[in-house]
Amino acid sequence: MTPTLISADIPVADWFDPHEAMVDPYPQFARLRALGPIVHAPAVGRVFLTTHEAVSGAERRPEIFSSYSEQNLTMMRALGGRPMLRKDDPEHAAERSAINPTLRPKAITSVWSPRFAENVAVWAEHLLEIGPERADLNRDFAAPVASQNLIDLLGFPEEVDVESMRRWSTSYIAGIGNLLDDAAIWRRCDESQSEVDALLDELLPRLREAPDGSVTSHLLQVGLPEEVVRANVHLTISGGMNEPQHMITNMVWALSLHPEQRDAVLAGEVSWGDAFEETARWQSPIGMIPREVAVDSEFLGAQLPEGTNVGLLLASANRDEQVFPDADRYDARRTARGHLAFGSGVHMCAGRWAAKNAIAEHALPALYERIPSLRLDPERPTLWDGWVFRGITALPVTW
Ligand code: HEM
Repeated sequence: MTPTLISADIPVADWFDPHEAMVDPYPQFARLRALGPIVHAPAVGRVFLTTHEAVSGAERRPEIFSSYSEQNLTMMRALGGRPMLRKDDPEHAAERSAINPTLRPKAITSVWSPRFAENVAVWAEHLLEIGPERADLNRDFAAPVASQNLIDLLGFPEEVDVESMRRWSTSYIAGIGNLLDDAAIWRRCDESQSEVDALLDELLPRLREAPDGSVTSHLLQVGLPEEVVRANVHLTISGGMNEPQHMITNMVWALSLHPEQRDAVLAGEVSWGDAFEETARWQSPIGMIPREVAVDSEFLGAQLPEGTNVGLLLASANRDEQVFPDADRYDARRTARGHLAFGSGVHMCAGRWAAKNAIAEHALPALYERIPSLRLDPERPTLWDGWVFRGITALPVTW
């Protein structure tokens, strides 16, 4: 494929360094925004949209910024099929509308919320058993809670353990980000795909006979072809665990660094829901989402030729001072309305209500109720990784 010519009117950030972004992406995001809403980053072969106006504007123009990409193929390779997230409407809408009913607030409250409460109770006990010298909130609480919630949402059988779900999810996420074509990462994706497919070989006929309220069952009920059902189950595994896991640790980390705000939340002066939204804005688990320009276009004064590989920098848009005054400051009182951590437009996260319920109604309140003196362990370091998908990989805590 011939490389797309980036027009000369777009500023170039030849200094953008993805390795440095892994350590802390926010200083480079600020420099990108200072250059303008549309910036070319040769190191990643993309044109970045950097501001809130640019990202939300692009999400309103899917006819220009298409999700049906022929260049961003790692997701399809990782998941073994083309899921809804790599399609445009009307094809996308047919698949999305299948899962919406079971992920809307009403179903969350009546069906899923009690399950999330049970899962949190089990894993809070586990954390306590590990003890204040060794506990890692990521490994011992956030990952298993997010895993078990997703096992339930997908309607997977009880025998599926949280470790398998965690392994599948992390291998898919690594595959989606495998721009350097690392063979070992593809091998892990292939193994995960065959394990999940073997499970679906048994589960799908059962759900055809006896439908239930799960995401998998809803995908089947509307009569989608089986390979489409499978691709979207793999997609939900990739996104439905990793991000909620990161949100749990990010929230505890953010509140621990701002004890006055943590105390305000615990005293009921600030809602858990507002703290959740502000954490999603301030430390967005998904930093960038890909799109491809479908037709030669002008956007915010710049010429974008067909085929341009675009990165919508959600995490940068969420630090845009034009929309969030004092944007680098964590402030759970600001209510963070309009943040883009869940995307916007037709692909806006299908699981956002499930995630908010699981975390702001259950995981965080139960954690602090069970362990009121929970705090970061100063003796053991917190570790972060990633900028496209960014999260805490170790969060040692004590009490
Ligand atoms: C805090 C947790 C979460 C965050 C930050 C998050 C973030 C996102 C974002 C940014 C997108 C849009 C991607 C794009 O447009 O390219 C998305 C889409 C999606 N998310 Fe989430 N997500 C979370 C939790 C979940 C959960 C729990 C589920 C499943 C139960 C889920 C399922 C999906 C699905 C199926 C899509 C694709 C929607 C479509 O293409 O229409 N997510 N998510």
